[in-house]
Amino acid sequence: MSQTATALGLTTGRAPFVEEARHRGELYIRQPYEDYTEENHESWRRLYARIRPRWELYANDHFLRGIEALDLPSDRVPRLADINRRLQPLTGFQARPVSGYVPGFIFFDCLRRREFPTTITIRPLDRMDYLPEPDIFHDVAGHVPMHTERAFADVLVRFGDCAHTAAEMTRNVANRQERDRGLISVIKAMSRFFWFTVEFGLMKGPRGACAYGSGLLSSYGELEHAIESPEVQRYPLQLEWVINQGMEIDHYQPLLFIVDSFDHLFDQVSRLEQWMREGKLNNVAPGLPEISERDLNSFLEAALE
Ligand SMILES: [Fe+2]
Repeated sequence: MSQTATALGLTTGRAPFVEEARHRGELYIRQPYEDYTEENHESWRRLYARIRPRWELYANDHFLRGIEALDLPSDRVPRLADINRRLQPLTGFQARPVSGYVPGFIFFDCLRRREFPTTITIRPLDRMDYLPEPDIFHDVAGHVPMHTERAFADVLVRFGDCAHTAAEMTRNVANRQERDRGLISVIKAMSRFFWFTVEFGLMKGPRGACAYGSGLLSSYGELEHAIESPEVQRYPLQLEWVINQGMEIDHYQPLLFIVDSFDHLFDQVSRLEQWMREGKLNNVAPGLPEISERDLNSFLEAALE
């Protein structure tokens, strides 16, 4: 790699190591730790220092214990090998570096194997607040501490089971158009459920609702807004609502759902799978997310195996 390439480091949107891997069609990569620049470490330091007091106020206790259990560093980008050494004995989960977007089925199938596809790049210093794409702060500070909790880890594995069920069910549909239309609706339902729980979920806590969703836990501004703002609608999780609720992206979530516990969430994912089997997810309400050709094909290809 050239001098200039190394100087760019592992900054989101301009990381030669990651772009080259993507260009070669490699999804799973390594974390070339020596490529992180001082600016990359500084991004992590600032993000961590700023959000830490808000975690104390608004994060669920499992998350706070997870931060300690992983010994998540405050002063530099974490090495995934160090994180995994602590994480794996707890729940069998591992953070696995990827080069970019992971198509739907492949993503859920990773969860089933207790692997979490993890971005290794970090946002630049001048974009601390909002980044449309995930970065290592979102993935490792927002998601991975939750993976230390057994009941939550089991929820993620259950999502993987759902994806397998969705793929298997397409085998029985002879008409191709009908098959694709139904599958798109099922993927939409699953994605919405994942979004309103794993990404943006709230849980009942001793001090009122607290956050367990990673989109909240990795966002300094939204974490406080989600818990404190009178404008946010917060309702107990209802499966029939969540699967039909269009997602809103690019701004703070105006609607959030609260679970009682991770056992409660686990039961709801099982219900989701049951509804899938009964065909109840085949006609969910239109709206976001759009399901891409790549996502659709990832399920259809899995069905052929
Ligand atoms: Fe995420």
